Amino acid sequence: MDVRLIAFDVYGTLFDVSSLRDHVARALGGSVDPGAFLDTWRLKQIEYSFLVSLMGWFEDFKSITVRALRYTLKLYGLEESSGLIDSLIRGWGELKPYSDTLTVIPRLSERFRLATLTNGSRDAISSLLDKWGLRGYFTDFLSVTDVKIYKPSPKVYRLVERLGFSVSQTLMVSSNPWDVAGAVNAGMRVCYLNRRGLPLEELGLEPEIEVGSLDELYGVLAR
Ligand code: LAC
Repeated sequence: MDVRLIAFDVYGTLFDVSSLRDHVARALGGSVDPGAFLDTWRLKQIEYSFLVSLMGWFEDFKSITVRALRYTLKLYGLEESSGLIDSLIRGWGELKPYSDTLTVIPRLSERFRLATLTNGSRDAISSLLDKWGLRGYFTDFLSVTDVKIYKPSPKVYRLVERLGFSVSQTLMVSSNPWDVAGAVNAGMRVCYLNRRGLPLEELGLEPEIEVGSLDELYGVLAR
């Protein structure tokens, strides 16, 4: 497969958002189902990123995540305090990588140039990768902050052009079906890393590859 650059989504693709569950459970005590709370928080976070982009304004992903958290606390009838918000937000810096992120990213980096392409800020992503010894495997950290609009705006995926690659020379890897649709729409070559058994979006935007793990992707690229 003639690929020059592999760009990775981060939240949900390299790092497991559901690993926040225990953190949520600890912060909220036994008052709510932490999995359901987290699902709402994550959905609202993505919805707000779409909303602000459609409305033509931008603020960084941490602020969007705080707004989504405030909404979720309200929905669950929970009192918000700055201590609670800080403690829940800190969880995003403590996400765990999927096990194949730790084993396959180093191997992929020997054969391809790797970048992150994420809604997260460069600082947040760099420190998350650093914590797990993964930062050095990536040469570039592309973030929506550079274009001030969120995925799935084509402007975000075209950030790879700043590295000297066309979208069609880049393989985007994402486990978020809406992100897969966005990357295909922008003209990228796309791999859907189906980690959660979710169907693709019904938008007629099909990825070139679908795999269940990064090991499987490595096998496809080595062919
Ligand atoms: C990311 C989130 C949206 O861009 O998955 O990392």
